[in-house]
Amino acid sequence: MKLVILGPPGAGKGTQSKKIVERYNIPHISTGDILREHISLGTDLGKEAKGYMDQGTLVPDSLVLSLVQERISRDDTKNGFLLDGFPRNVSQAVSLDAELDKLGINLDKVINIVVDPKELISRATSRRVCSECGATYNVVAKPPKVEGKCDFDGADLITRSDDKEETVSVRIQVYTDQTSPLIDYYKAQGTLFDVDGSQSIDEVTKDIFEGLDK
Ligand code: AP5
Ligand code: MG
Repeated sequence: MKLVILGPPGAGKGTQSKKIVERYNIPHISTGDILREHISLGTDLGKEAKGYMDQGTLVPDSLVLSLVQERISRDDTKNGFLLDGFPRNVSQAVSLDAELDKLGINLDKVINIVVDPKELISRATSRRVCSECGATYNVVAKPPKVEGKCDFDGADLITRSDDKEETVSVRIQVYTDQTSPLIDYYKAQGTLFDVDGSQSIDEVTKDIFEGLDK
C-alpha cells in the first residue's frame, strides 16, 4: 500500500493516518511531524523551517524534497507507506512521481478528505497535542480522559504554535492556492477518491477503509 492522504489543515489527516498505518502496518510519513521534530531538536533545517511554519506558509521545496527522498528509500517502506502533508503543491507531486519512477513503484491510492472550510478553523483551534508522544486530541470532539493530560503517557497537552486562528486562516488559503490543484492532478492519474471528512472520526475511518479495499 503506497498511499497519500490529502486534505486541508484540520481535516483529520493525522487522526486518520494513525488508524490506516496500524491496519496496513506501514510507516506514517508526515512532513509536518518531521519538520516539527527538527524544530524541537534545534537542527539547521528546523531553524530554517520554523519561520515559514509559524506564519502558515510552505517551507521551500528544496528543504522538504530531500527529506522525503531519504525517508521513502529506507527499508521499512518495503510494504508501502502513507504520506501525510506531502506533496503540498504540483511541483512536489511531479518530484515524487520522478522519485517513485526511479524506485520502480507507483502510488496505489490518494485519499482526499473533504471538510467544509468553516469547520476547519474550529477544529484546529480546539486541537491539543501531547508534548511527549504527539498524540492528537480535540477539546470538543476527542477530549482526553484527564483534562490537559495525554491518555497514553500522562504528559502535558499543548497547542501547536501554528493553531492560532489567524495562522490557520493563512494555512487554509495556502491550501486553496497551492495544494488543492493536486486533486485534479491525482484524479487524472485515476488514484484519488473523496471521503466526507465532516462525519465522526470513526465514520471517516470506515469510509477510508472501504475506499482502500475497492
Ligand atoms: P502539517 O503538519 O502537515 O499541517 P496541516 O496540513 O496544516 O494539517 P494539520 O496537521 O493541521 O491537520 P490534520 O489534517 O492532520 O488534522 P488532525 O488529524 O490533526 O503542516 C504544518 C506546516 O508544516 C505547514 O503549514 C508548512 O509550513 C509545513 N509543511 C509540512 N509539510 C510540508 C510540505 N510538504 N511542503 C512545505 N511545507 C510543509 O485533526 C485536527 C483536529 O480535528 C484534531 O483536534 C482532531 O482531534 C480533530 N478531528 C479530526 N477528525 C475529526 C472529525 N472527523 N470530527 C471532529 N474533529 C475531528
Ligand atoms: Mg496533521
